[in-house]
Amino acid sequence: MTTGAFITFEGIDGAGKSTHIEPAAAWSRARGRTVTTTREPGGSPLGERVRELVLGLPMDGVTETLLVFAARRDHLETAIRPALARGEWVLCDRYSDATFAYQGGGRGVSLGWLRALEDEVQHGLQPDLTLWFDLDPAVAARRRAAARAADRFEAEDVAFFERVRDGYERRRLADPGRFACIDASREREAVWRAVEAALAALSERMTRSAAGR
Ligand code: TYD
Repeated sequence: MTTGAFITFEGIDGAGKSTHIEPAAAWSRARGRTVTTTREPGGSPLGERVRELVLGLPMDGVTETLLVFAARRDHLETAIRPALARGEWVLCDRYSDATFAYQGGGRGVSLGWLRALEDEVQHGLQPDLTLWFDLDPAVAARRRAAARAADRFEAEDVAFFERVRDGYERRRLADPGRFACIDASREREAVWRAVEAALAALSERMTRSAAGR
């Protein structure tokens, strides 16, 4: 029997995480894994509707928090847990680390409240591996400006993204074994090699634990 794995991709906007998800899926499929790629907010019909609201309408941090956790709950119950139960590898563009980073760090929403919501919504389901694409917020801002029009989050200033980055760092320090910290300032091929190394380490870990070693 194959064992499911939950892998998340995190980082501030402009760090470049999204470009590595499809290559990571292809890498995993080439090694015999059945792969689902998905994203948050989103990943289910309800989640995608919530995504439009969160990215499109003005609202405060508490409202954002309630909406992203509502989307996450539906996504978990209808897509992520069933895929993991089928033994698939679930590659997810953002998950609850993003809530601690953006709503907690960026918007100043109470971390204690976020932890309570996380417990109720996720019942302890955390990723097996989180690839954190870490990049200086000033560099990320320059990349975003060259690449695309800003959504509500991307329009925030560098100080906001400094707080988001600190939020990610706090999450990493609280659970260092789960995180692979990827230096996203390097050129794309070098970043990919770091992604591949983290996936290979996870794959080996899972194969060993499936064999009971
Ligand atoms: P993002 O994942 O960067 O997608 P795209 O590449 O299409 O821009 O966009 C999602 C945005 O949602 C991102 O700016 C961070 C924000 N977000 C939160 O604020 N909290 C959350 O819990 C999640 C999952 C995302």
